[in-house]
Amino acid sequence: MDNIKAYIDQHKDRFINELIELLKLPSVSADSTFSKDIINTSKAVKTALEDAGCAHVEICETPGYPIVYGEKIIDKNLPTVLVYGHYDVQPVDPIELWDSPPFEPIIKKTKIHPEGAIFARGACDDKGQMYMHVKALEAMTSTGSLPCNVKFMIEGEEEVGSNSLVWFVKRNQDKLANDIILISDTGMISNTQPSITTGLRGLSYVEVEVTGPNRDLHSGLYGGAVANPINILTKMIASLHDEDNHITIPGFYDKVEDLSAEERAEMAKAPFSLEDYKKALDIDAVYGEKGYTTNERNSIRPTLDVNGIWGGYIGEGAKTVIASKAYAKISMRLVPHQDWIEITELFKTHFESIAPKGVTVKVTPHHGGQGYVTPIDNIGYKAANKAYTEIFGVEAIPQRSGGSIPIVALFEEELKSKTILMGFGLDSDAIHSPNEHFGIFNYLKGIETIPLFYKYFTEMSV
Ligand code: BES
Ligand code: MN
Ligand code: MN
Repeated sequence: MDNIKAYIDQHKDRFINELIELLKLPSVSADSTFSKDIINTSKAVKTALEDAGCAHVEICETPGYPIVYGEKIIDKNLPTVLVYGHYDVQPVDPIELWDSPPFEPIIKKTKIHPEGAIFARGACDDKGQMYMHVKALEAMTSTGSLPCNVKFMIEGEEEVGSNSLVWFVKRNQDKLANDIILISDTGMISNTQPSITTGLRGLSYVEVEVTGPNRDLHSGLYGGAVANPINILTKMIASLHDEDNHITIPGFYDKVEDLSAEERAEMAKAPFSLEDYKKALDIDAVYGEKGYTTNERNSIRPTLDVNGIWGGYIGEGAKTVIASKAYAKISMRLVPHQDWIEITELFKTHFESIAPKGVTVKVTPHHGGQGYVTPIDNIGYKAANKAYTEIFGVEAIPQRSGGSIPIVALFEEELKSKTILMGFGLDSDAIHSPNEHFGIFNYLKGIETIPLFYKYFTEMSV
């Protein structure tokens, strides 16, 4: 492994520059004005995989954006690692809050990243983390130390629900056959305390529309006499939580698993400072479900949040108007055993039932996915932990994350294999926010840790 480390040291500037080039491509999957850029990004990923030593790489067409598939099979009797990642990124808005343009990557030092971090949309989620795997492969093939078979599957629709990936996986079980799936699209606790993500939350994402009168009305002539859709919508949304911040949708918690006191005590051992947490966000208090800690609220408990709300007049100055319609986008993060389709139905039934006379309500599901939990007594977890321990000098801590990667549950169902979530990002890296960044330290440590996973997983497999 010393030669891998030497190879990385020798080529690290190029590794950084290549990532910077990839980050210049604005592959925003949510906005169709970027569809050409998405296609260009898929081609860049294909070239990168070829250059890194994949023997066979193809761009697989789907009903949506293409999936880049690559493989290097060295011996059918050796285990196969399937690497998954995504080359699409989140939209950049609000663009005015970026300190530098999101698709003109720059390296800046920060308190948490004294070695510097690359600032760009997708730097951490997920181009930077995905590209660590490409460079780790290059390091292994160039030093003659690839110990097993490898397959890559890099998609372009993760940020919008992975519909085409579902389609692709269901049709390509043989092609994607593997012994373990490896993903870097999550985070770790800190640069001195690695962690391995053992749980992801499920998701149900819906849009609601409240319609009142058939046209926008003068708020003096009609105000107070007809239902105002915005007043009604906000009241309905407010009623979805009670005073303890429990969600009020009937049946919502029925399948939620209560963790034992021991499990909660174990979770509470992970290093965490509430003071630092509040300071980083400029808030004077945290807020959430009564009876749970901050780390429990954002990992083992389900939540409901408005992601956007609009309607009426929002232009300059004032306009006295009662809007005909009001809208909101709402996400529910779910925990294992909650079924996202069932929860979506429960939401729809409940939301329609609480609408007063005088308005009509439409609930439109967007997308969703099941949560995931993985045990830590398998060789995938053990190999990952051994790799982290060797590189960081301390054992990794298992941790459930609040985020969602819905296709992980589907991988288990369709491909019958476990996923190891080896993330190298930090919560403070501002994924999905303005000024997203990824530490150079994290990027290079990731490239170093991944080959060790391959090595130990292969050793433990025989
Ligand atoms: N990489 C994130 C998910 C994530 C981030 C998990 C950090 C754990 C820690 C992924 O790209 C993402 O943003 N997923 C979406 C869901 C998707 C269906 C749009 C999410 O969690 O909002
Ligand atoms: Mn991601
Ligand atoms: Mn994301």
